[in-house]
Amino acid sequence: MKSHLEIILLSTILLINVQLSSSNERKFPKNFVFGSSSSAYQIEGGWNEDGRGLSIWDVYTHENPNRIADRSNGDIAADSYHKFDEDLKAIKELGLEYYRFSISWPRVMPFGNNSLINEKGIEYYNSIINKLLNANVTPMITMYHFDLPEELNKIEGFLNPSIIEYFKNYSDLLFDKFGDRVKHWVTFNEAFFVCRHGYGTAEFPPTISDSGISDYKCIDNLLKSHAVTYKLYKEKYFKKYDSNGKVGIALNARFFFSETNDTELVNRGLEFELGILAQPIFGQNGGYPEIVLKTIAENDKKEGLEFPRLKQFDSTWLNLIKGSADFLGFQYYSSRMILPISSELTGISFEKDANYNITGNPKWKPGITSQWYSVPEGLELILKWISKKYGDIEIMITENGWADKGELEDDSRVEFLRDHMESILNAIESGVRVTGYLPWSLIDNFEWNAGYTQKFGLYGVDFSDPNRKRTQKKSARYFKEVIKTRKLINQGSTKNISFTFILTVLIIILGIMATR
Ligand code: BGC
Repeated sequence: MKSHLEIILLSTILLINVQLSSSNERKFPKNFVFGSSSSAYQIEGGWNEDGRGLSIWDVYTHENPNRIADRSNGDIAADSYHKFDEDLKAIKELGLEYYRFSISWPRVMPFGNNSLINEKGIEYYNSIINKLLNANVTPMITMYHFDLPEELNKIEGFLNPSIIEYFKNYSDLLFDKFGDRVKHWVTFNEAFFVCRHGYGTAEFPPTISDSGISDYKCIDNLLKSHAVTYKLYKEKYFKKYDSNGKVGIALNARFFFSETNDTELVNRGLEFELGILAQPIFGQNGGYPEIVLKTIAENDKKEGLEFPRLKQFDSTWLNLIKGSADFLGFQYYSSRMILPISSELTGISFEKDANYNITGNPKWKPGITSQWYSVPEGLELILKWISKKYGDIEIMITENGWADKGELEDDSRVEFLRDHMESILNAIESGVRVTGYLPWSLIDNFEWNAGYTQKFGLYGVDFSDPNRKRTQKKSARYFKEVIKTRKLINQGSTKNISFTFILTVLIIILGIMATR
């Protein structure tokens, strides 16, 4: 009799457990894809091998080691130039459907132009593409991920309008060589970052400190380069390969929160950092956001400038740029609190035009530095903002990641990934068309000015080992499970399992006691 009671009790508890854990799991839509991202300079190494030319990052790190936290560089990095097979092993282990990597422009065009095409470079990327396809993984190529050929920097890089033609010739080469097999293209990685920090704040190469002038000029030339490349693909390659090929751009942004619910200020922040690049491409009428143009024009007037620092595109450019993307690659890491500026800035600068202050929030989970708070709700809100502004566009999350010191039992990264995937699911459920998630990054790599002091990989790389051994982290095991089940496995589910386990044991004890 007693044992019957126990059996009934146990089955009830089991049912409750199954119920509890399955009700916590949310499913990803059928066509949603999972992948991961990387970039050439951050992982390849082989900086002077097989005819590769120099990029601004080679020159910057070699000439200014003091600018990098650990005085390192990407000369060897994760040595993916020689070890792609190990990266592929990780890709397969994870079960990735997409792998996003970038082409090093100076590896295929050592001088940044058609005067010399480096066949060895083409061979390297051909082998990556073929190996991915053989493994049933869709390659997604970023054409530009911060590593401008030094030769083009000598003629002022993105400040020189001829960059439009140089970029077009470069993308023509890539489409021509790889377009028969590659159907997913990203022209530029984080255009705002390229222009603001390369040509405004001087935080990144080419370290031009000309905030409020050169950063806008860069944005203008970059958008034009993007649009010309899009047109080239549609006119020359789309039919040729009779494909469903897609060309997009990757834009990054943080969401802004206002303590006083100042939506105007939040909007202003988003327009200055995201709208300035997104609206010309994705906005229904195209062109730069009005608030941005208006403020800059007012400040031009105040400063007595006789030339506009940023002017609306003429109708030819406006129409060429408008609609020039099949998808938005969106990259999100963190958010900020936004506040009205405390004291008015003087002179000319982006900061003065933008006219807001930002801070962190002690309520947010802090990251390895104050730059990296985990704010998953910011992702959901910014996705909703984008979709409200630009309509039903396709969005792929082409980067999202968490920095730490390289722990293999990286629970914080597991939590970060889970929480951000939940935000994506929330956004999808409210109608935002997010079609993929490619977190940053497949493997640990050279983290720009932070060198090797910050790690983002799902796989660890031992940078003190000449073999650059890769090791699977806990986050990789977690992500693999999500991909396999296509469910948002609750980090909570580990918590829930232990919670329900304890509950189970307790009820059993009580049950046994009651039946005695
Ligand atoms: C970049 C990556 C970078 C990551 C973390 C993004 O801005 O695209 O290259 O490693 O953020 O900083």
